Amino acid sequence: MRVFVAGATGAIGIRLVPKLVARGHDVTATTRSADKVPRLHSLGADAVVVDGLDGLAVGEAVARAEPEAIVHQMSALAGKPDLRHFDRWFALTNELRTRGTEHLLAAANAVGAGRLIAQSYTGWTNIREGGMVKSEEDPLDPEPAKAQTESLAAIRFIEENVLRAPLEGIVLRYGSFYGPGASESLVDLVRRRKLPIVGDGSGVWSWIHLDDAAAATVAAVEHGPPGVYNVVDDDPATVSEWLPYLADVVGAKAPLRLPAWLGRLAAGEVATRMMTEIRGSSNAKAKRELGWQPLWASWRQGFRDGLTDARPAARGGERAA
Ligand SMILES: NC(=O)c1ccc[n+]([C@@H]2O[C@H](COP(=O)([O-])OP(=O)(O)OC[C@H]3O[C@@H](n4cnc5c(N)ncnc54)[C@H](OP(=O)(O)O)[C@@H]3O)[C@@H](O)[C@H]2O)c1
Repeated sequence: MRVFVAGATGAIGIRLVPKLVARGHDVTATTRSADKVPRLHSLGADAVVVDGLDGLAVGEAVARAEPEAIVHQMSALAGKPDLRHFDRWFALTNELRTRGTEHLLAAANAVGAGRLIAQSYTGWTNIREGGMVKSEEDPLDPEPAKAQTESLAAIRFIEENVLRAPLEGIVLRYGSFYGPGASESLVDLVRRRKLPIVGDGSGVWSWIHLDDAAAATVAAVEHGPPGVYNVVDDDPATVSEWLPYLADVVGAKAPLRLPAWLGRLAAGEVATRMMTEIRGSSNAKAKRELGWQPLWASWRQGFRDGLTDARPAARGGERAA
């Protein structure tokens, strides 16, 4: 299949491109930077330099590639996280999820691309009522934190527009990424004991290793009915479970603890909700309908052996399936 990957140099794109090439697909991969073209060539893709917010340029690049499937992996999240000013931190990503999506959908329509797969997210976006693990049927949070209002609106936009477009639209709601290139700043915070457990740490997180997210994306390119899919591991877990475990496996001291009121003062509403209220997500639909399953079935094994590319010598370079 001819596949156009918009945002091919990011955490997922760089893993997705070689997997698609290995499956025999012809891949056209985008970056904004001519410096990154040789890297994309070395992965076996044709490379094109294009800004996803330039509708004309996107239209031309897609028209030249004539893809049968388009994958939207454009985000702008490299750099320092800023949970207090979440929407400001996500501003460009939100543009890529709104205007960037419109440009890709228009281009897909113009060339008759049959399938479009877009990156979304699951975690803090879930409604914070009822059961602690949510499916795709459950509503998004009707009351996002003030600082996340625009970011949730951008997620709603990308999901609704991809699903109602006149093609096979697939939304992949990735859980929280970990793996090489995705978790270094988290591990750094944990090592410096700068990430305390706030309140009782009962917020539930769904993690996903980058390689598993990329594999789910290949599956979604190749088959599966249109719709929304959670792409998360099998093991949603409270902060009070995963954070001390992560500290332990990276050789850090146990995390400090902070009462919720102090957490709210020190770190703000978004961070406190993430520590105490958010819900996890179920991957049952992706397993059933995309025929995918995570190789890193639990973050427990993933945090131990999958945070870096180095394979643990003690396990002979293999990881358990
Ligand atoms: N579900 C999650 O937990 C989740 C989701 C996404 C990201 N993240 C995290 O955020 C961090 C940064 O993510 P990342 O490595 O994927 O980098 P990123 O800076 O978010 O970039 C992602 C991709 O989008 C492209 N891009 C950015 N702006 C663009 C624009 N205006 N037009 C076209 N393409 C554009 C980038 O390409 P060029 O720069 O080459 O143009 C790159 O290929 C990582 O730690 C990652 O794990 C987490």
